[in-house]
Amino acid sequence: MNRLPQSRLILSLFSLAIASCATQEPDNAFVSDADSVPMASNADTSTLIPIIDYKERFLPVIARNGMVVGPEQLAAEVGAQILRQGGNAIDAAVATGFALAVTYPRAGNLAGGGFMLIHLADDDRETLIDYRETAPAAASRDMFLDNEGNLDKQREYFSLQSAGVPGTVAGMLYALEKYGTLTREQALAPAIALARDGIPVSYSLFFEISASAQNLRKNPAAKRQFFQPDGSAYAVGDIWRQADLAWTLSEISEEGINGFYGGEVAQLITTEMESGGGLITAQDLADYRVVERQPVRGTYKDFEIVSTPPPSSGGVHIVQMLNILEGYDLQAMGHNSAAYVHHLTESMKLAYADRSLYLADPDFVDVPVTQLVDKAYAEQQRQRIDSNVATPSVDIAPGQLLGNESTETTHYSVADRFGNVVSNTYTLNFSFGSNIVVPGTGMLLNNEMADFASSPGSANAFGLVQGEANKIEPGKRPLSSMSPTIVFRAGEPWLATGSPGGSVIISTVLQTTLNAMVFDMNIATAAAEPRMHHQWMPDVLKMEEGFSLDTVRLLQAMGQNVDMASRTTGRTNSIMLDEGWLYGSSDTRRPGGWVAGY
Ligand code: DON
Repeated sequence: MNRLPQSRLILSLFSLAIASCATQEPDNAFVSDADSVPMASNADTSTLIPIIDYKERFLPVIARNGMVVGPEQLAAEVGAQILRQGGNAIDAAVATGFALAVTYPRAGNLAGGGFMLIHLADDDRETLIDYRETAPAAASRDMFLDNEGNLDKQREYFSLQSAGVPGTVAGMLYALEKYGTLTREQALAPAIALARDGIPVSYSLFFEISASAQNLRKNPAAKRQFFQPDGSAYAVGDIWRQADLAWTLSEISEEGINGFYGGEVAQLITTEMESGGGLITAQDLADYRVVERQPVRGTYKDFEIVSTPPPSSGGVHIVQMLNILEGYDLQAMGHNSAAYVHHLTESMKLAYADRSLYLADPDFVDVPVTQLVDKAYAEQQRQRIDSNVATPSVDIAPGQLLGNESTETTHYSVADRFGNVVSNTYTLNFSFGSNIVVPGTGMLLNNEMADFASSPGSANAFGLVQGEANKIEPGKRPLSSMSPTIVFRAGEPWLATGSPGGSVIISTVLQTTLNAMVFDMNIATAAAEPRMHHQWMPDVLKMEEGFSLDTVRLLQAMGQNVDMASRTTGRTNSIMLDEGWLYGSSDTRRPGGWVAGY
């Protein structure tokens, strides 16, 4: 939270009582873990804990030592417990990632992929672990086109061919081994217990499974996994056990990387592939590699933005848009005013147009990252924006660069008491991925192949225009929008955030960071404020409920094609770090989100 005047701070005893409730469970961590609390620094500020700010309609959850903010309670608490016991943020992120595969099956996963951005306090540096899926060796450019050259969406989205070679297990184990302190067995034990002993079906889990029931029932193994033996749904409060998934997790715990990419689990994956025209082979699994990359970096005024590089488009476009917007006085325009929304919209059109041409897997295509995030390029792009009139998307081509190059995902954020921060987004792509469970494993397959340009020039499932650069090639990573991001203030990590939502991830992270950086909002308010989205094509400005009709009318008068979107935009899980305090907020746009802190 940004600095609060002392008159609006309240005293320590009450504050400590509230802070210890940050886990949202009866908790005596402040007492039992007293010796692990950094008391010296605590003493400096313990009389001035900013619990209540009478000017704010939304307040974050506050903690002192460690925090996990994620889409589901049990998994967030797994991470927080690891932090309490002395683990670092990477340990907690890995344990939470494995636990979400059990408790949040629509997006938590073993057979998906993602990106983990880490700030390492001791080294004062950031690193990005790319565990995005790869196309199998037998994949080819036109594999999803039928004989007439039309896209076969059923095969692209909901078949064994939809699956890229999974990266999650490799990514989690890589992070743990290189930057964690726990053993593999320790990091996996909570997830194994949750799968083996079962979890009570929460309202959100019930809702999520119900929403995809029709598709899940089509696949016999998914039907066995998600429904009772007689085929009926589990009710809220029922205990849901996942014995097959517990076994798969145990294989990983005992055998490590080989427990998934070799051995019996791999065998079950390839047997399933062979049964129905899937492409992933034993060799593909054995060949899968995590790539550790340099994050993308940019600045916005005094802030530094560190985010996800290609094969995600997210970080590049967030920095690019911030560069363009830095040239305007956004504060003077007013938050979510017509002028503000107009300038964001025009910046989004330019960035998403560039995405369609330039962005792809950097191991296959030269992605001109340096030029795209260059302030001079932003200056040139800014000249293309008319401050009073919308430029139709058809009139916007991807920008001329300067010089040469020298529907479910989930995000969670973790901070520990040592100063490490993790911002992680991973996914199966759609909710429950391809809706296909590999028999015997309890594990859903991703449908991430759909993020390639299956038919270059056409739009993907999120309506994003996909260029030739993102065509399917063996071993290639499909272009992503996932944008785990950390913003730094005065050289210190200040805000960790990210979101699901396919194409809207980028605009969601952009607006969340602007709300905090420009408009001084606390992280709960920054998450709650209405958001808008434009992705160049189609030429539609989607606006959530909550914008004033006056604003909408002004935007329409400027030529913007406003759609008061029926869906909300993104779902952030964020931590703000300020003066030794942790402020967490799980976006209220989706049910079940949780802040676990101590
Ligand atoms: O990597 C991507 O950009 C997409 N596969 C993310 C999918 C997603 O966010 C779906 N969530 N609602």
